Amino acid sequence: MNSQFVPGMDYRGLVAEYGSPLLVLDQAAVRHQYRALSAALPGVTLHYALKPLPHMGVVETLKAEGASFDLATNGEVDLMRDAQINPSDCIHTHPIKRDGDIRHALAFGCNIFVFDNPVELHKFVAYKEQARLLLRVSFPNPETKVDLSKKFGCTPEMVLPLLREAQALGIQVIGLSFHVGSQVPNARRHVEAIEACNSLLRQADAEGLPLQVLDIGGGFPVDYTGGELDIHAFCAPIRSALANTPHGIRLLAEPGRFISAPAMTSISSVMGKAERFGRTWYYLDDGLYGSYSGQLFDHIDYPKSAPYAKGEAQPAVLAGPTCDSIDVIADDILLPQLEVGDLIVGGMMGAYTWASATEFNFFRKANILVVDSDAAALKAVA
Ligand SMILES: Cc1ncc(COP(=O)(O)O)c(C=O)c1O
Repeated sequence: MNSQFVPGMDYRGLVAEYGSPLLVLDQAAVRHQYRALSAALPGVTLHYALKPLPHMGVVETLKAEGASFDLATNGEVDLMRDAQINPSDCIHTHPIKRDGDIRHALAFGCNIFVFDNPVELHKFVAYKEQARLLLRVSFPNPETKVDLSKKFGCTPEMVLPLLREAQALGIQVIGLSFHVGSQVPNARRHVEAIEACNSLLRQADAEGLPLQVLDIGGGFPVDYTGGELDIHAFCAPIRSALANTPHGIRLLAEPGRFISAPAMTSISSVMGKAERFGRTWYYLDDGLYGSYSGQLFDHIDYPKSAPYAKGEAQPAVLAGPTCDSIDVIADDILLPQLEVGDLIVGGMMGAYTWASATEFNFFRKANILVVDSDAAALKAVA
């Protein structure tokens, strides 16, 4: 879904009522994305990865859709508990955990964890009666800027030795997982990783170390340029590769960005303006330290517009409100003349934005207004 602009959204009215900066979370977009990916990956249980947007408005929508969840921290465990999510619908996928993190998840009732090295494996000796493990395999991906296999995952060569070590310790490893990086440009690496895992699953079985699960991670992309990505076509090679997964293997995925990115729109206001170096600088009440943090951490350039501005477009700079010079969200953008109080709208801002925003300079994070454009209902402001 391209909800760069939620149909009929009255940005001025919303700011008049709820203040600025504001993030508008459309549950209809969450629902649409979940259904589209479910249809593109039949037979794969989708565990929404909470990290891009750990918000109750998303969780409630997905719960109603029958989704499962991927959590990685104690805070995310608490969100699941608050939302009364069935712990058996959750997996804990952080490959590196403290003992207290494991206990917190187990106390909630989530008992599937991820490991990728011997030190982490040994942490589960104490919990071998309850915990079931997925072994994360690394498949580096130079085609994405968020290459998670640099930081996590064992090499494919380490899989069998680690499975043997787990067996010797009496710890139950139930499957393999991977994450080929976020916002991948094509499904090539997913396919290579599935093929490699299919082979590893067969080798493990032949050695008497049978596994039951393959978790293909996240990475499913969205179109930040204003179009709508055809996720069914994107996943076609993944579906073909999964068709060769050994019989009886349960398939999981951990999509984050794809579900939440199109669901949130940012509205910010011009606080001040100045002429500098031949351009008009507009200082907004949201910026790089706030909702636009993903421009830095997630390497995304969100579509921005001034929906009510009229007149000839001129070179402008959009800066955030803090006192830091890095706090610029567009240093070469064409915009009609804006005045103090005018609005800037950012689209596709649901993933890795609010979640990574800071309150530097005591500029508070934007409030999130939950709406459902399917039901034309306003839910809550948080
Ligand atoms: C373990 C794990 N699962 C899932 C995700 C979600 O990935 P994406 O947003 O690319 O779908 C991430 C992202 O960092 C992750 O680390």
